Amino acid sequence: NQGSAELMTDYFEPVSTLSLARSLGLAGIDMPTLRRWFYGLAQGAINFENDPKRQEIADAISAEVGDAILPTLERLARQPDDSALSHMLHDGMPEGTTRPIDFLMPSIKVILLGGMQEPGHGAGSILAGLLAHPEQLRQVLADPETFVPRAVDEGLRWVAPIGTQTRQTTRAVEIGGVTIPAGAAVAALVASASRDESRFADPDRFDINRNEGNHAAFGFGHHFCSGRFFAREQMCLAVRLLLQRFPDLSLVPSREPVFRGWEFRAPTTLHVSLGVRHQ
Ligand code: HEM
Repeated sequence: NQGSAELMTDYFEPVSTLSLARSLGLAGIDMPTLRRWFYGLAQGAINFENDPKRQEIADAISAEVGDAILPTLERLARQPDDSALSHMLHDGMPEGTTRPIDFLMPSIKVILLGGMQEPGHGAGSILAGLLAHPEQLRQVLADPETFVPRAVDEGLRWVAPIGTQTRQTTRAVEIGGVTIPAGAAVAALVASASRDESRFADPDRFDINRNEGNHAAFGFGHHFCSGRFFAREQMCLAVRLLLQRFPDLSLVPSREPVFRGWEFRAPTTLHVSLGVRHQ
């Protein structure tokens, strides 16, 4: 088929959202609901200015999510299966007990937000980079085994889906000649670290042939993104399967992707011509 698509809405967000929900054990919740959940929860996560209207949206969705998944958690507490939620309830607990649902719920909401939104956003940026550089896209098509994972990491370096790793100082600390007092809230800009010109040559350029070491998109240090392995695999699969099926994919001229956001950053749209479909 010849045709066109807006890949953020038509492909990357559904793949990201549904794969996480199914792995968690929330297969019964439909795509529009899941999408509404992560957009709503995100309002709270980016509410750095403490806007009460944003918080109200996030709190309402957070309550809705809690009510909606409680029956699943209660069922899994009685009847374990192989879903991630079931493992969170049961693994490592003494016979006949489960981890308390109240204890797990905040982490589940973080997983739902980051897990549903970020791989879709990341994959969108990765593909936008490839489509803007046809010679690199040809390299990926010729040897996907090698170059899809490289494209994924370069896309995450180029545009960090999450901009910061947030912390609070336990004592006064000096960085780059500036003293940050004890007890201060700190936002370490992973987006900036991934474009550090002392580490990456011409850092604003998308280039899958770099050999300059790791990016910071999943955070770094002792504590970082707990979904990084799942996320990377999922983005590799989503990009590889798409290019396998539509190797002639190209950007629609005059509808180039526009990137938006800084704490959560992604192309707002990704309009493409699909070209000829392969089986
Ligand atoms: C491209 C995709 C993703 C990116 C770029 C990303 C990035 C990040 C970053 C920067 C952090 C903050 C780390 C810190 O403060 O130390 C984080 C935390 C987290 N991420 Fe991800 N993430 C992604 C996908 C996922 C997925 C798919 C899941 C779940 C399956 C997930 C679960 C989490 C959780 C639970 C945390 C909080 C960890 C904690 O505070 O203990 N993330 N992520």
